[in-house]
Amino acid sequence: MAAVISVCRPFFVGREAEYAKTAVESGWISSAGKFLTEFENKFSAYVGCSDGVACSNGTAAVHLALLSAGVKAGDRVVVPSFTMMASVFPISLQGAEPVFVDCDPETWTLDPAALDAISGPIKAIMPVHIYGHPCDMAPIVAWAKQRGAIVIEDAAEAHGALYHGRPAGSLGDLAAFSFYANKIITCGEGGMVTTNRAELAERARYYRNLCFDRDPSKRFIHEDIGYNFRLTNVQAAIGLAQTEAAVELVAMRRAMARKYLDRLRPLENFIQLPVERPWAKNSYWMFGVVLRPGVKVNAAIAQKQLLELGIDTRRFFFPGHMQPVYRHLPKVSAPVSEMLWERGIYLPSSSDLGDEEADQVVDALKQVASQ
Ligand SMILES: Cc1ncc(COP(=O)(O)O)c(C=O)c1O
Repeated sequence: MAAVISVCRPFFVGREAEYAKTAVESGWISSAGKFLTEFENKFSAYVGCSDGVACSNGTAAVHLALLSAGVKAGDRVVVPSFTMMASVFPISLQGAEPVFVDCDPETWTLDPAALDAISGPIKAIMPVHIYGHPCDMAPIVAWAKQRGAIVIEDAAEAHGALYHGRPAGSLGDLAAFSFYANKIITCGEGGMVTTNRAELAERARYYRNLCFDRDPSKRFIHEDIGYNFRLTNVQAAIGLAQTEAAVELVAMRRAMARKYLDRLRPLENFIQLPVERPWAKNSYWMFGVVLRPGVKVNAAIAQKQLLELGIDTRRFFFPGHMQPVYRHLPKVSAPVSEMLWERGIYLPSSSDLGDEEADQVVDALKQVASQ
């Protein structure tokens, strides 16, 4: 069998190794250095924010955003059931309670209409821009305002996505990004909190570094509990090189999606394709498809068959409200999230996916559809 087409490989734009080498040769290899500052400045500007606080990964960015927002034990945080558990676990680690809501069947992002059913005090809401499609933020922000809740965007998957022309990551009070190897902009492992509120950025910096006091005479005397969430200057060097090419990298991901959309239209009675709402720019972090109701295969079977045909895929997320670890929480109805788990898979989505690879993936899908 020919080599398997992987779900995602990183795409290097050219200067990553050079910048990383410069960082190493400078001796600044830990959590201070010019690449960190430049990466924070450049990436936060790219997503329309005054401040960026780089950290060790996207999960840490979610956690830092929660800490900066003051989320603590006993608080409740609204989060979509259909998301990566990295959005949710930091809520639990803070001793707060995730309140799961269902998602839209076409964009797969938090359904604003599901918010009406939520009662009781809410500290924060975390819309997640799933697979690069932005959430419908206006009604979410309006709801949060009415409920006195802080808005934390989980933009881990949404570099370059736009909502009414405004970048994902600049639409709430705080946002969290990931730079894991499969992200459109990567530095191997890394994350960033972005915000337009300087006081929240200051808090994120404080919690990122063990809550050290700014006053040098109080060094090692702590008023709060923080953690080491720091990113290294070497990783930031890679992140900076990638960010300098952000426009090109996002365009490549959209070109990948276009290849599939052009080829898969004839299969639309077998699979539902990703959408792009008129108010959205989808950055297509991953190209997801959902098997239509009534077709013979579910996601688990399709994934197995596609792998046998040399195509690696991933199933959609297992819903939060069904996770064994959350069985103690109040019961939630989220049928769309459950349907997406049963029937959703995402296809190889590398930025540089070639025409031949797209043909191979589509041929394999046609074989699965034709049985
Ligand atoms: C929605 C979402 N949030 C958070 C994360 C966490 O990012 P990381 O893997 O960098 O910790 C991910 C990772 O893919 C994600 O998809």
